[in-house]
Amino acid sequence: MLSKLKVKLFSRFDIKLTVFYTFALLLISLILSSFFYYRLEHNLLKQIDRMLKDEAKELILEIEEDNHIVKGCKEFFGDISHREFYPVFFRVMTHDGVTLWTSEYFSTILSKGIKEREHFTVTVDYRKKKRYRIYETRFSFKDQGVFVAQLAINTKRSDKILETSLENIFTAIPVVFLLSICCGMYIAQKPRKILRNITAVTRRITSQNLAERLSLPPGQDEIRDLTLTINFMLDNIESSFNEIRQFTADVSHELRNPLSAVKGEIEVAVSRERNATDYRETLHNCLERIDDIIKMVNDLFIISRFDAKKYDLKLSRINLAGLLKEMYVFFLPIAREKNIHFFIKRCDTVFASVDRHKILQLLSNLMDNAVKFTPENQSITLSLIEHSHEAELKVSDSGIGIPETDLEDIFKRFYQVDPSRSGDERGAGLGLHICKRIAEVHGGSISAKRNKIKGVTFTVILPLK
Ligand SMILES: Nc1ncnc2c1ncn2[C@@H]1O[C@H](COP(=O)(O)OP(=O)(O)O)[C@@H](O)[C@H]1O
Ligand SMILES: [Mg+2]
Repeated sequence: MLSKLKVKLFSRFDIKLTVFYTFALLLISLILSSFFYYRLEHNLLKQIDRMLKDEAKELILEIEEDNHIVKGCKEFFGDISHREFYPVFFRVMTHDGVTLWTSEYFSTILSKGIKEREHFTVTVDYRKKKRYRIYETRFSFKDQGVFVAQLAINTKRSDKILETSLENIFTAIPVVFLLSICCGMYIAQKPRKILRNITAVTRRITSQNLAERLSLPPGQDEIRDLTLTINFMLDNIESSFNEIRQFTADVSHELRNPLSAVKGEIEVAVSRERNATDYRETLHNCLERIDDIIKMVNDLFIISRFDAKKYDLKLSRINLAGLLKEMYVFFLPIAREKNIHFFIKRCDTVFASVDRHKILQLLSNLMDNAVKFTPENQSITLSLIEHSHEAELKVSDSGIGIPETDLEDIFKRFYQVDPSRSGDERGAGLGLHICKRIAEVHGGSISAKRNKIKGVTFTVILPLK
């Protein structure tokens, strides 16, 4: 039961923090109090020692003035005997310890004899804690040799000061203890509340409920930074989830169309008896649709490889002019068949380190579109220009063009300007997205611009290094 409570309490962040604060504060207060206490004790003793030294000087002066040791002592005793504040006791001895004069009480403070120490403290009555500070000094008097004077002062007053300060310390420490607990709990409440809020909100967030965000705490501290970071992370997760949802919806939508068409063709074919030519035509149509599906699945596979950062780039240093000419030769009969003027406007010799297969795929996607969206008697031109650090490849046509508002979006996956424009040759809207990904893995870029009169120009920039 007790250990359970202990575990529960110490699993709380604010309590842990408070205990830590309190012990740290207590330790600091103890160290500081001890330091100040010992400084005070040291200073008080020093003050008494100074007083004793002055009194000793007075005594020796008196002896010298009276020119007699006992007389001088008596005179000095007369001067000091009325003192209430720090009363002084003393005795004077020959250098071999024979007492010449002593205050009545001195023998109870210190037994006979010379101690050979300048300053020291003796405790007379342990129960009453009576302590005396002693000062021992030697002086020579006339030609009678060396004498020893011992003076004592009761340390009662300084002991009282020390006692009071010790009492103050012991009263202050529990107050500090209580105050630090209260302050610690109060200070730790704020981060605890915020952490609890973070936990509660993040627990509520599931794939079905990604829109929720943490409320921002006031101030500009690390907790605000943490909240902002979590919200930013949630934004990213939400947009990734939405992208995946959209992707799945687009794929199923794009697959449904050709599959429904195939199904429709077959249903019509089997609805009644037909001749061999009809069946061949149905099979031919189905084959075309299936080709579309295969193309789309292939495109999706390529995109998924890019998403997984598995580019399989096989870089080699090749002349891009060769690739451009290859494209030209391949598409020339197709263009001719559609009565499209097709020519190369400019073709510099540019060597670059690229994946030959991927750049061919990029150019072929652009050419596919150009042929698809350029009507009879219009033209398609290719060009390759070398700049200082990059190669500029252009595929330009004078076809139906792309509205200005769609230019930014055409590189997004599944984006189609208006599916009805493609007629029978409808694609899935993946070709330009693949072009963009290919240009990007080469460290380049792709952009589209409307031509002044008609048509559109696609520009691919590839870095030379
Ligand atoms: N040369 C072009 N002329 C006009 N429209 C184009 C051209 N190239 C692309 N588009 C438009 O951009 C859209 C996206 O092209 P793309 O990604 O290749 O998809 P699709 O699979 O439909 O060919 C097309 O639907 C088309 O409307
Ligand atoms: Mg296309």
